[in-house]
Amino acid sequence: MIGTDIHRAKTLLEDGELVAIPTETVYGLAANATDAEAVVKIFKAKDRPLFDPLICHFSGLEAVEKWIGALPEKAKVLANNFWPGSLTLILPKPDTIPDIVSSGLDHVGVRVPNHPLIRELISQIDFPVAAPSANPFGYVSPTTAQHVVDQLGERISYVLDGGPCEVGVESTIISFANPDLPRLLRHGGIPREKIEALIGPVEEELLSSSKPAAPGQLEKHYSPKTKFEIHANLTEFEGTDSKKTALLYFQGEHNGENQFVLSENGDLEEAARSLFRIMRQLDEMNFATILAESVPNEGLGRAINDRLKRAASR
Ligand code: TXA
Ligand code: MG
Repeated sequence: MIGTDIHRAKTLLEDGELVAIPTETVYGLAANATDAEAVVKIFKAKDRPLFDPLICHFSGLEAVEKWIGALPEKAKVLANNFWPGSLTLILPKPDTIPDIVSSGLDHVGVRVPNHPLIRELISQIDFPVAAPSANPFGYVSPTTAQHVVDQLGERISYVLDGGPCEVGVESTIISFANPDLPRLLRHGGIPREKIEALIGPVEEELLSSSKPAAPGQLEKHYSPKTKFEIHANLTEFEGTDSKKTALLYFQGEHNGENQFVLSENGDLEEAARSLFRIMRQLDEMNFATILAESVPNEGLGRAINDRLKRAASR
């Protein structure tokens, strides 16, 4: 069920089956993107509505251009700088990728992931793999193979185990639906600042449930079961009942039994890496409420604050 057998993963994908795959961001639930019947299985396994489009994963820029055609100029700059890596580009969808992948949109999400196992796997197959995060629809994304097994184990043939994800939050999504006006649809593993340093200012269009173009940006995404709140500072809550309330700090030393820390040194990369693991852990501990401290809104902090905000919205 869990293992590191790339040949087995490859055979299953070729046979139209689902395989959970490690990426540097989060684990994905993969199928052959050119096989509509295989892709349907992804939506079923996740209980994901068919109107929420999937990202296609390719082995490199060359493969992307072979399937999609030449990239708009700014998209190519980003691809050259950040692929393989935590960046998804929304680009024109070729007819070779079935409509179900993009939920009928004429643009499709494209990414070259950066993890040795998935890179090895997709370099050996001649089709892209469609893969959303490998969690039930609406829940926190998985950052270990065990997270995937815990929630979707019975619905997937095989989980390729690549260890804990290095980045820990999903990819940054930039839409080139209008090639002259790139838009940031989701904060993620590549900070906005790094993108703007290369292609100039990029406006945010963080899509919500009212904008069906990317329902994955539904506010209530990434939600734990436990009630979740965000505060600028947790000091005032330190006296509250430690059995009922968990305190999730960004940084510093906090040793109380209900106190948890994303990164003692205040390192945003470490905080991103630990975020979903700690959220899952807290969600299993039967607290009535989780109070989380917001992090500095810069670099990876934007993606972390975004996920905290979504966890808190009901
Ligand atoms: O890091 C990641 O991006 C991970 C790993 C597995 O690659 N994948 C991931 O996929 O986070 P998913 O499906 O959980 O989130 C991608 C979101 C979707 O919810 C969808 O709303 C948006 O990207 N998206 C996908 N295709 C789109 C399109 N053609 N236009 C607009 N938004 C799109
Ligand atoms: Mg997801």
